[in-house]
Amino acid sequence: MNPIAIRPARPGDAAGIARLDVETWQAAYAGILTVPYLVGLSAERRERGWASVIRREPRDVRVAVDGDGIIRGFGSCGACRDEAGFSGEVFTLYVAPDWQNRGIGRALLLALFARLVERGHDSAVVWVLRDNPARFFYQRLGGREVRRKTLPVGGVSVAASGYGWRDLPQFLSTAARDERQPEP
Ligand SMILES: CC(C)(COP(=O)(O)OP(=O)(O)OC[C@H]1O[C@@H](n2cnc3c(N)ncnc32)[C@H](O)[C@@H]1OP(=O)(O)O)[C@@H](O)C(=O)NCCC(=O)NCCS
Repeated sequence: MNPIAIRPARPGDAAGIARLDVETWQAAYAGILTVPYLVGLSAERRERGWASVIRREPRDVRVAVDGDGIIRGFGSCGACRDEAGFSGEVFTLYVAPDWQNRGIGRALLLALFARLVERGHDSAVVWVLRDNPARFFYQRLGGREVRRKTLPVGGVSVAASGYGWRDLPQFLSTAARDERQPEP
């Protein structure tokens, strides 16, 4: 099995991220978002979006690549988009279905937190759809549910929870002590 490496995104990653983005949305949100919306997701459209995000600041996007250089997970972060009382935000975090539960999500989240701290953000929030079991992953990694809201996604209103970390430097130093590398 291949080792996994986490690195900042490069311009050539947009297509690989977009493909995985659509694949993971269709897997994670089946039964939560509408079928027409999920079927209509376009990797080409998302590739244009990711290319522009990467052009703006490649270090705000992290990818998990296997030994063949194939992207198996990705995440992105930046300044918090609302007044949630947190400075930074993790906007996306997705791991390919066949690669979940090997420590890749944790490694990506820690890399995004480290990037936020580097940018001067000492706290962070992540918004997750409440019907998405991924929220228990954030709880497992020390996030506390701090806010709730309704988000419009694909023509429907869905309930979302905000998970917060109030002290990222402290969280990262504790995580570094019990560090576990992604499994091959
Ligand atoms: C949520 C997600 C990012 C987690 O990534 P992952 O690589 O599977 O998670 P990891 O292997 O790093 O797990 C880290 C820890 O969280 C736990 N965990 C992972 N997913 C979990 C879940 N859904 N519920 C409870 N615990 C979970 C793991 O068991 C592990 O626990 P440990 O510390 O005891 O070893 C990934 O499953 C995913 O992409 N899901 C679908 C897309 C999605 O919903 N993304 C989030 C959008 S906001």
